[in-house]
Amino acid sequence: MIQSQPAVLVTGGAGYIGSHVVKALQTKGYSVIILDSLVYGHRDIVEQVLQAELVVGDICDRALLDHLFATREIVAVMHFAAYAYVGESVTNPAKYYRNNVAGTLTLLEAMVAASVKKLVFSSTCATYGIPKQVPIPETHPQAPINPYGTSKLIVEQMLADFDAAYGLKSVCFRYFNAAGADPEGQLGEDHSPEPHLIPLVLLTALGQRDSISIFGDRYPTPDGTCIRDYIHVCDLADAHLLGLEYLLEQDTSQTFNLSNGSGFSVRAVIDTVQRVTQRELTVQICPARAGDPPILVGSCDRAREILGWQPQFPQLETMLHHAWAWHQKRHKSHVNGPRRKLEKTSHRELVSASAAGRH
Ligand SMILES: NC(=O)c1ccc[n+]([C@@H]2O[C@H](COP(=O)([O-])OP(=O)(O)OC[C@H]3O[C@@H](n4cnc5c(N)ncnc54)[C@H](O)[C@@H]3O)[C@@H](O)[C@H]2O)c1
Repeated sequence: MIQSQPAVLVTGGAGYIGSHVVKALQTKGYSVIILDSLVYGHRDIVEQVLQAELVVGDICDRALLDHLFATREIVAVMHFAAYAYVGESVTNPAKYYRNNVAGTLTLLEAMVAASVKKLVFSSTCATYGIPKQVPIPETHPQAPINPYGTSKLIVEQMLADFDAAYGLKSVCFRYFNAAGADPEGQLGEDHSPEPHLIPLVLLTALGQRDSISIFGDRYPTPDGTCIRDYIHVCDLADAHLLGLEYLLEQDTSQTFNLSNGSGFSVRAVIDTVQRVTQRELTVQICPARAGDPPILVGSCDRAREILGWQPQFPQLETMLHHAWAWHQKRHKSHVNGPRRKLEKTSHRELVSASAAGRH
């Protein structure tokens, strides 16, 4: 569908979080143009579910960006496009700095040249590194421990400089762990390879994996396993709409954590999946991984106070019900058709060097 009214450009809109935000934008009546290289995104979701305009291209392509800004009336950009495999960023940092930093710089320069000066940016709790306090507030020192986190922190710093020099205003969201799926069952998480705990446990419940591994069960937490903060992807999407409206109305740059404010242990996730799916899973206890903090929980007070954000699905069980419905449906459609080809980089290379998988 070709848009003629002012639109929001969504980079990475064919991916997990971006696709949920596109659906939320459409529900609110916004026109959307998706720019996605489809390296990790899903054409079928854009064409069959979202029915949004899809420009297949790269944020590193300045000529393409200039053409888009010159030929469309774009009021703001929501920028999800990035690589996000923490382990791979350690073994191949150049790939991360080129895409996440240089690609974003190209996008920002094209925006300034076209006088499009509103950006919503996907940052990450990985910019904090090892927390000195939990829940982590936005004022916590940022000391990333891997190139992925550094690439996002550099973009945050670029955004502050672009605001001061060129008046480009941004809302920067530091997500904790996105989880769950569209309650209507149309969208969900489908990374290939998949590094995140919840989909991995659900894939185990679907019989696509033999067992699920717990990395360390002697952490100083109530059940000995790591605690992480999971936030429903639709609550993330709601926050993005509020962030966009804030930018359009207030014209001030802001940074917010997007988190649940409370965490769930790896063991609790596995137990809840067993309850939700009614399937018993084989669990393996493996050695703890270097660099995995025992507890990572973010404070979301700021987004609640300033944006009036109110998460609708804070319960782990709800996130898992929604994700399970999606995984069952996606699995059935893949059984009837070919699965997307795996990237050339092996799953092991992408996730095994990682202390924390992907953020
Ligand atoms: N998933 C999480 O829990 C989480 C946590 C913190 C931050 N984030 C950030 O949120 C954003 C979205 O994450 P996601 O889980 O939806 O990832 P995803 O891989 O599902 O989506 C990213 C999309 O960007 C596209 N893309 C990548 N590089 C591109 C480029 N150069 N040009 C055009 N398109 C490109 C990919 O094809 C993909 O569709 C990322 O920036 C990620 O770093 C995610």
